[in-house]
Amino acid sequence: MRTILITGGAGFIGSHTCLTLLDHGYDLLVLDSYVNSSPIAIKKVIILHKRNNQISNNQLMQISGDIRDYKFLKKLFFESKLNGKPIEAVIHFAGLKAVEESVENPLLYWDVNVGGSINLLRVMDEFRCRTIVFSSSATIYAPKTDELLKEDSDIAPLNPYGQTKAAIEQILSDLFQHTDQQWRIANLRYFNPIGAHQSGEIGESPLGKPNNLFPYISQVAVGARDILNIFGNDWPTPDGTGIRDYIHVMDLAEAHHAALEYLLDNESILTNLNIGTGKGTSVLELINTFINVNDCKVPYTFCNRRLGDVPVSVANNELAIKTLNWHPKRSLEDICRDGWKWQMLNPQGYLNKAI
Ligand code: NAD
Ligand code: WQD
Repeated sequence: MRTILITGGAGFIGSHTCLTLLDHGYDLLVLDSYVNSSPIAIKKVIILHKRNNQISNNQLMQISGDIRDYKFLKKLFFESKLNGKPIEAVIHFAGLKAVEESVENPLLYWDVNVGGSINLLRVMDEFRCRTIVFSSSATIYAPKTDELLKEDSDIAPLNPYGQTKAAIEQILSDLFQHTDQQWRIANLRYFNPIGAHQSGEIGESPLGKPNNLFPYISQVAVGARDILNIFGNDWPTPDGTGIRDYIHVMDLAEAHHAALEYLLDNESILTNLNIGTGKGTSVLELINTFINVNDCKVPYTFCNRRLGDVPVSVANNELAIKTLNWHPKRSLEDICRDGWKWQMLNPQGYLNKAI
């Protein structure tokens, strides 16, 4: 059984990926500081896994800690080796992701995202664990209105958060090119992951007011917030609202599984892959799909554009499909249905849930 370290594994994308990997027979060490998540997410992952795999022997160990803590990481790698279960690869989700906060506090973002990643890579190198799937983002691309974004499109992040993601990709590229160790690296550039596991048992649980569209729609629909503000109806798009490439979080989780297997099956590799559906959806289209599928109300109003927004961001996902033998399977309707189920079953997310 292969042991994989999942940093940030209690978070939104991490928890869904943990479930997918457990179901595929991996042993997991899930490391999280819980700065933006809850340990309950991982408890639920274990319950879901056991429910569907009653005779599974796969192990998941949950560890509380910070990726910036060098001694702690070293001890973790050392003890895994000592127990005969050396960490073979890392899926690196841990980091901060709020764009606005990154503008207000860029040092924090460089410290956690870049400093934390350097720390992790240093320890991985010391233990000759040189396989990593990294959570990158479509936010690193320079805005383009009329074309799908390709992996070789220009990189020009608009905010400190995006800068830290581009910087980590650069560090990984330097490691790959300028050291003679055999690194295996996949930078997955996610577009807009939303939705929840189809059981509605795990999902996205933002602390406080959501920064992103989908959790905001869900909270308005459930009555936790009065009204959705749509940031502009004067964008150069058919209905005037912003267009994004929304991908079901379980399709994204499956992309991580495929990327991990791809790296473990190959030697010395660096790949950048867009993980999206290749299909654009406007804000109004997403709201209307949510209302139709779930038979609910989502009151909204138009307001000014949000600073730093781009009109359109949609993936050309051909390279990921070809390289990983993966493709997104779930529709926008599935996304809205599953996200709503999570919201209805857990109106306050993981808050107030018993472990
Ligand atoms: P999330 O906040 O739910 O998950 C990140 C996890 O990392 C959280 O559980 C948090 O507690 C943990 N963490 C943060 N700092 C840490 C530290 N110093 N040490 C240990 N753990 C720490 O976010 P997510 O949506 O699941 O995103 C996962 C990754 O994917 C992030 O790196 C994010 O930047 C990236 N990403 C997310 C999106 C998106 O839209 N959600 C898009 C592109 C890229
Ligand atoms: C989607 C659309 C908004 C909220 C962000 C990060 C990006 C990445 C994914 C991590 C846009 C509109 C939103 C609202 C609205 N994260 N909107 N009212 O901006 O594409 O990407 O998350 O890497 O870095 O920037 O996603 O969900 O915030 O916005 O009208 O209350 O919804 O203007 O058109 P975005 P989003």
